[in-house]
Parts: sequence; C-alpha cells; structure tokens
Amino acid sequence: MARITAGIACSHIPALGVASDLDKVAEPYWAPAFAGFDWTRQWEAEQKPDVVVLVYNDHASFFDMKVIPTFAIGCSERFGICDEGWGPRPVPEVEGHPDLAWHIAQSLILDEFDMTIVNELDVDHGLTVPLSMLFGKPERWPVRVIPLAVNVVTYPPPSGNRCWALGEAIRRAVESFPENLNVQVWGTGGMSHQIQGPRAGLINREWDTAFLDRLSSDTDALRHIPHIEYLRETGSEGIEMVMWLVMRGALGKEARELHRHYHIPASNTAVGHIVLEPVEQGE
Ligand SMILES: [Fe+2]
Repeated sequence: MARITAGIACSHIPALGVASDLDKVAEPYWAPAFAGFDWTRQWEAEQKPDVVVLVYNDHASFFDMKVIPTFAIGCSERFGICDEGWGPRPVPEVEGHPDLAWHIAQSLILDEFDMTIVNELDVDHGLTVPLSMLFGKPERWPVRVIPLAVNVVTYPPPSGNRCWALGEAIRRAVESFPENLNVQVWGTGGMSHQIQGPRAGLINREWDTAFLDRLSSDTDALRHIPHIEYLRETGSEGIEMVMWLVMRGALGKEARELHRHYHIPASNTAVGHIVLEPVEQGE
C-alpha cells in the first residue's frame, strides 16, 4: 500500500528561486538562507520519495479572478511552468502521477471534500521554489508531484481547521491506494510576511517560532488559529501558513520534528522550513 512517510514545509519566496536560477546561492546574502536546506537535501536523497503531494498556492499566475478554486488537485501527466513577476522560471516541467492523483481526488470527494479537478495546469513559484530548495538544479525533478492548490490569495481562504482536516483525508486517500509508494506531503508558503501597505516587511520571529514548535506539540490549538490572528501577527501573506496545516494533518495525531531552519530576512520575509515524520501509534 502507499504510505505517507514524511511531511515537509518550506517557504516559497520567489527571490529564492531567482537566486537559484542565477547561481547566487553562495553569495553572502543568500548563503545562510540556503544552508538550512543542506540537511534536508541529503536526507531526501536517502528517502527517495516516489510522489510528493505538494500543497501550494497559485499567485494569479495560472488561476485568476475568473475561477478561484478553494482546493484544486492536478491530475495530469505533466505540469508546465508559469509565473508572475520575473516570468516563468527556467526549471524542468513537473511530472505528475495521474493514477494516484485521480485516486486521491475520488477519495477526497467521496470523503466530502469538494475538490476542483484540474487536468491542464501550469505551476508557479509556489510549487517550483520548494522543489529547487530541496533538489537544486537537476535536469529532471527526481520525484513525481501531485499539485494541490489552495486559495490563499482572494478572501476568504479556507480555515486552518479545514486545511488540517483535508490533510487527514489525504492520509486516508493515500493509505487506500494499492500500489507500494513512498509518499511525502509538502506544505509551502509563509512564514510571516507582508508585501504591501504600511506594514510591508513585517516579520514576527516569536510567533513563527511558536508555530514551528506547535507542529509537533500543541496541535489542537494550532489547527484552530483564526484568520485574524494570522493577519495581525504574521502580516497579510502569513495566511499562507494554513497550507502547512494540510501537511501536518496528513501526518496523523503525532509527529516528530527531524529538522528545522528559520532565517530572516530574505527579500523582506522570513524563511521557514521544517521536516516532520509521523509517529505511529504505539511507537
Ligand atoms: Fe506565496
């Protein structure tokens, strides 16, 4: 059977992608931001996941105001590259896993999560920057990816509790897939950041650290953080952290922290990264 072996969370700051694309990762400004991923790159090379369910948000690069799915799942063979700002990154196309993706879509919908099924999808930095942080600049990404897009751009985004419950349903879906697959769930975005208005550049290290701590401890309070607290404490874009809760929900009741990285600032935002593994009951 397929199984979820780990959860990874990672900021998807577009400037990190540009630093990677332009080979600037060793420059003094960027080196500390990238160094915190060295452990995970090595660990990931040993883990060799078959598939990543990659929870991200599109930044009006592919979706726009015409269609705003709260939760969308990419079920195609491959996904093209698109982006805002600097334009599409020079990175490989992303290979999907249609069989598992359709299975997850069916399982989630019958489990009462009304997913939008997307058969043609280009992905932006929300998905490609975490791939670059974890895998560098390969000719081809070493893992298949099922994009799971969450609307956190247009109000209202889903609640943290709903995202957590979606993660729990993803776990049920994956564990009912008959093929023997090593599946990871990644949550992306965050941490505290605000990119416009009088509070632009807001970073809240204390709150971010508590959030990272609670991913493996006080999980019930974590899933019920209201939107207004994210907005007040982490800025208007800090709401992206609800996507981390999809990842955390997919790990089950208890999770163990294997690695953490927090670096400020990077392009006026906080870089956050954590690696968790599920703790099986009775372990
Ligand atoms: Fe984002």
